[in-house]
This record gives sequence, C-alpha cells and structure tokens, in this order.
Amino acid sequence: MDLGIKGRKAIVNGGSAGMGKGSVRALAKEGCELYVSARGEERLEKACEEIAKETGANITPIVADHSTDEGRERILAACPEPDILVGTCAPPPTTGDYRTISTEAWESTLSIALLSPVKFMQATIDGMVQRGWGRVVNIGTGAAKYPAQIRILSGPPRAALVNYSVAVAHAVAKHNVTINNILPGMYHTATIHDGYTALAEKNGTSYDEEVDKFIKEWRIPAEKFGNPDDLGAFVAMFCSEQANFLVGQSLVIDGGIGNTTF
Ligand SMILES: NC(=O)c1ccc[n+]([C@@H]2O[C@H](COP(=O)([O-])OP(=O)(O)OC[C@H]3O[C@@H](n4cnc5c(N)ncnc54)[C@H](OP(=O)(O)O)[C@@H]3O)[C@@H](O)[C@H]2O)c1
Repeated sequence: MDLGIKGRKAIVNGGSAGMGKGSVRALAKEGCELYVSARGEERLEKACEEIAKETGANITPIVADHSTDEGRERILAACPEPDILVGTCAPPPTTGDYRTISTEAWESTLSIALLSPVKFMQATIDGMVQRGWGRVVNIGTGAAKYPAQIRILSGPPRAALVNYSVAVAHAVAKHNVTINNILPGMYHTATIHDGYTALAEKNGTSYDEEVDKFIKEWRIPAEKFGNPDDLGAFVAMFCSEQANFLVGQSLVIDGGIGNTTF
C-alpha cells in the first residue's frame, strides 16, 4: 500500500534506536526525506547509514539533545519546514516508592518527555498549517493510560502530552494537520536490551528468561515483547495521506496487556 508521503520531509527525534529507528525505517521505505536526531553520534551515524543503504532514502543525522534549546535549534536549522514530526526518547527510569522520586528526576523527565515534544510542536505546526499538510506522531507509553507505580516518571508526563496534543489537534485539524499518539507496551529495544541483560547477569539468568518472567508477571496476552519495526510501521501509517481523518487519537500497542474494551 502506498502511504502517499513520498518526498515528504520528516524529523524523527530519538531515531537511532528502538521505536524511533523503526519509525525512520518505515518512513524511509515510503520515500520520505529524513532528519534524524539522537545524542550519541556513533549509533546515530550507523543507524542512518544502515537504513539509507537498505531503502535508498536521503537521511540526515543530527547529533543533538532534543530536550535542550541548543539541540532543538540544531535540529530545526537542518529541517526548518518539516511535513512530518515524530518524537520519542528512551524510556525514563523505572521508579520504586513514589515518595523517593527527586525533583531533579521530575525535571529531567518533564524536559525530555513532555516539554521537548511540546516545543517541537510549537515550532513546526504553524508552517504545516500554512502549507496545508502536516502529520505529528508522539511515541509515548501505555503507562500514560494505565498508571503503575514503577512507571511514574514515564506515564504522567506522557498523559499530559496526550492531553496537550489532543487539544492542539482539534485546533489544526481543518488545515489537514493531524496530531496523534502511539502508546507502546513492552518492546525489544536498545534500552530494554541493556536493562534486561544487566538483570540477567545479576540473577544468573538469560535475557530471554528475564523477558519471560516479565511476560508472566504482567500477564501479556500475546506472550511476547513487540518488534520496534512493527511499531514503526504504525507510525508511518499515522503519517500517511490516508490518515487525514485521524485526529487526536492515542493507539495503545501492547500485546493486550491493558485490559480494556476501548
Ligand atoms: N521499550 C519498551 O519496552 C517501552 C515500553 C513502554 C514505553 N516505551 C516508550 O517508547 C519510547 C521509545 O522507547 P525505546 O525503548 O524505543 O527507546 P530506545 O531504544 O532507548 O531509543 C531511544 C532513542 O532516543 C534517543 N534519545 C533519547 N533521549 C534523547 C534526547 N534527549 N535527544 C535526542 N535523542 C534522544 C536515543 O539515542 P541517544 O541515547 O543516543 O540520544 C535513541 O535513539 C519511549 O517513549 C518509551 O518511554 C518503551
């Protein structure tokens, strides 16, 4: 299926690994011109080269921290008029007792997971409105919808982001600018790989055994973690020409872990 976005300029913030990288791959396959940010240069260059080689897409890596003004300026200087904006970051640290979460930890997660995507939307949506076409997809977390004490630094900032993006989505939908969110459950991404490998070393088990433990404890109906490239395909679909009537929605893709009918 042709998603009708060939030649569209797309910024993907946080695109050197995990679901951001999956999104870059899916948009590249559709013929988008990509501008991809991440802080770590080596992994970013490698990811962009790999996907460019695979797809023939034009991909510009931008080494930048998208949670800082300087980083945002660098990204927007490279691509001042994006048609597509996809935003993500690494999963914020898991949390223990809610009373022990420091102000610094709150400030950090708010600046990366909430303020950064808000500032990118502020900076890019007017141009999309003027040009009469735009797509914004925030990759958040299922914890925005299903709160849990271990995800306090992840869920609440993204619940706020979803609320903000729906309000803005309603204001700009008539200009063919859509804003939507994808809320993932557990996926085999870089951070999950590092975290579960460390856990396995500590427990004398393997990565797969630790993943299996989590699946059983949290009763994931699909009995597996997701593939970040599959999530990326949904991001591309949300960025498609055909998604022009999809306004302010938040799709949970989590293997069924969230028990709800709607
Ligand atoms: N993986 C899961 O199981 C899971 C579960 C629920 C929700 N989520 C959510 O899904 C999203 C993606 O997670 P993921 O697991 O795919 O992440 P990941 O594999 O850790 O990849 C994160 C990407 O974002 C980049 N990044 C992080 N902070 C950045 C910053 N400040 N500026 C620029 N780039 C930045 C990273 O590169 P650098 O580090 O080099 O900057 C990397 O490219 C997050 O919102 C997470 O909360 C993930």
